[in-house]
Amino acid sequence: MFPFDKLDRLEELTFLDPLVAPLRTAAQAAIRPQALRDLLHGTWLGNPLHAVLVQVPIGSFASASILDLLGGDDAEDGADLLALTGLLSAVPAAAAGATDWSAANPSEQRSGLVHASLNAIGLAAWVASLLARRRGERSRGTALGLLGLAAIGASGTIGGHLSYRRALGANSNSDIEDTGPADWTDAGSADLPEGKPVLRQAEGTPVLLVRTGGRVDALVDLCSHQSGPLHEGTLADGCVTCPWHGSRFRLDDGSVVDGPSTHPQPALDVRIAGDRLQVKLRG
Ligand code: FES
Repeated sequence: MFPFDKLDRLEELTFLDPLVAPLRTAAQAAIRPQALRDLLHGTWLGNPLHAVLVQVPIGSFASASILDLLGGDDAEDGADLLALTGLLSAVPAAAAGATDWSAANPSEQRSGLVHASLNAIGLAAWVASLLARRRGERSRGTALGLLGLAAIGASGTIGGHLSYRRALGANSNSDIEDTGPADWTDAGSADLPEGKPVLRQAEGTPVLLVRTGGRVDALVDLCSHQSGPLHEGTLADGCVTCPWHGSRFRLDDGSVVDGPSTHPQPALDVRIAGDRLQVKLRG
């Protein structure tokens, strides 16, 4: 069995940090404004856009190589078209990946840099393959395509590790519907400061409470991106901004205003019983 757990060690490659820092700064400066970042994160989609877009280049390159190996002379034009499709579709996929990467934790950025480097090698090989095809060097084009496919396959293994083992892009509150307060649950004193984030516990679920005038809003406190503590974030315009990577959620319903999170923050209903607050997950 492939030792996928060994891929965790990529996160310990601290010698990459002098490269990671300027590349992160460059990516954050280049991918602007915030609306473009949200588009590329997939905030509008409710899932990471990168995971959707990468299907096209991977599928195109794999199909091109199959035609190269098995399609014969009649399939040459189709294989070349697929190789070109793979290269063109890799551009938005890479932009979405770079946007997610620029808002990840430092350890994941090390793995992400290896992932991106392998992709760059793979894409360079496919550019060389396409050029060889144009010169009529079919065997060289096929070999370079297979080299590119191998690099992109290795990169995809790291991407899968980041997504499924490290849960980058996953909803970190996915279990809250099962574990959170489904019925009215005590969340401490009803005495709350005006306009300040307050952390309370409701039977083990951390809850962010914000009083604004006569209204109290409540969200699960752990950010749906990577569990950042929302009560340490900032409040403005009816929203809370996560202190870790800047995701912004509406206080009244938990919807995502800005990424990198693509998942809404679970909201809770609030009621006052005597001098106590009670909360329950909104259905
Ligand atoms: S943990 Fe990343 S934005 Fe909140």
